[in-house]
Amino acid sequence: MNAPTAVLHHPDLSLQAPEYVRGIAPYLPGKPIGELAREFGLAERDIVKLASNENPRGPGPAVRAAIAAAVEDVGRYPDGNAFALKSALSARFGVGADQIVLGNGSNDVLELVTQAFLRPGDRAVYSRHAFAVYPLAVQARGAVGIEVPARDYGHDLAAMRAAITAATRIVFVANPNNPTGTWIAPDVLEAFVASVPDDVLIVLDEAYDEYLEPSQQSQSVAWIAKYANLVVSRTFSKAYGLAALRVGYGIMDTKVADMLNRVRQPFNVNALAQAAALAALADTAYVDESRALNRAGMRQLEDGVRALGLTFVPSHANFLLIRVGDAAGVYQRLLKQGVIVRPVANYGLPEFLRVTVGLPVENRRFIDALAAALGR
Ligand SMILES: Cc1ncc(COP(=O)(O)O)c(C=O)c1O
Repeated sequence: MNAPTAVLHHPDLSLQAPEYVRGIAPYLPGKPIGELAREFGLAERDIVKLASNENPRGPGPAVRAAIAAAVEDVGRYPDGNAFALKSALSARFGVGADQIVLGNGSNDVLELVTQAFLRPGDRAVYSRHAFAVYPLAVQARGAVGIEVPARDYGHDLAAMRAAITAATRIVFVANPNNPTGTWIAPDVLEAFVASVPDDVLIVLDEAYDEYLEPSQQSQSVAWIAKYANLVVSRTFSKAYGLAALRVGYGIMDTKVADMLNRVRQPFNVNALAQAAALAALADTAYVDESRALNRAGMRQLEDGVRALGLTFVPSHANFLLIRVGDAAGVYQRLLKQGVIVRPVANYGLPEFLRVTVGLPVENRRFIDALAAALGR
């Protein structure tokens, strides 16, 4: 008699994950240069990537030197409490080191807030066309995201306030917002913060603050003394040019920081990132130059786009949201020319492309490629 054949049984283990995890629509990052090079047989050096709002200069020389020096110690775990970086941030912002929580990118800080404060069924409020990580982080906790319709592509703060109920634990505000580049003036924003019930956390995401003109830059950290429910998040990924190292931070009341630190991985910010961020924070001239370069590049993109007869949403950040019509088609025709931008249909903006301000030569490449893609 033949031995019975083993029946291989492959249960679908994804069914064991909570329904709210299975329901998550994955984050869509900008297309990596290497991937486009492989797909279209292009040389990487001929590809221009204006898709992820990075500083096109990368980090400055002092930061590169700090990273090189820190390589010596990568055999050891980093300082889990990041003493030097927190001290520098504490001096910069006039807050206690115990009010600062570092993250593996500011994304991590956003996740930590949801991890520490949301229970399944809780509600979190955010705007339509706001940064995609808010709904993802909320859904991953089994909480319910309340998306409030936008006004002129920006946050409708009155409607967001009205959407807050007894079940709301967090409200997210991005200022400036990604992907629209809209900005809320400080007096309007502070009035909103004051209007939110004091047991609801307000996460004020200021990832692009350094690109604002100095007179417009946020003073919201000073509000934390008045509003213990305010969390301000910032990043080294944008103007500081450190996107790949993954380092951001949140500033908040010590009691809130304590909760985030309890769920934070002990070594969530690596040693190279800590050393780089410390050096980057000190090099204020580099950030000023990057802002000036961005300002000129923004004018270049706006002029180029206007000359093609297209419209855009006026931006306060380092990217521009351009209405191109058939965005999916134009995106593909740009890719064929080696230019990567960001389609934003997943943000409810199917007629738009988001383009990061690059170096002058990259902006020119984009405008020329866009003209060709539109047959103009
Ligand atoms: C509004 C906003 N917040 C947060 C982030 C997260 O950036 P990081 O995790 O690199 O700090 C981004 C990145 O695109 C962003 O646009």
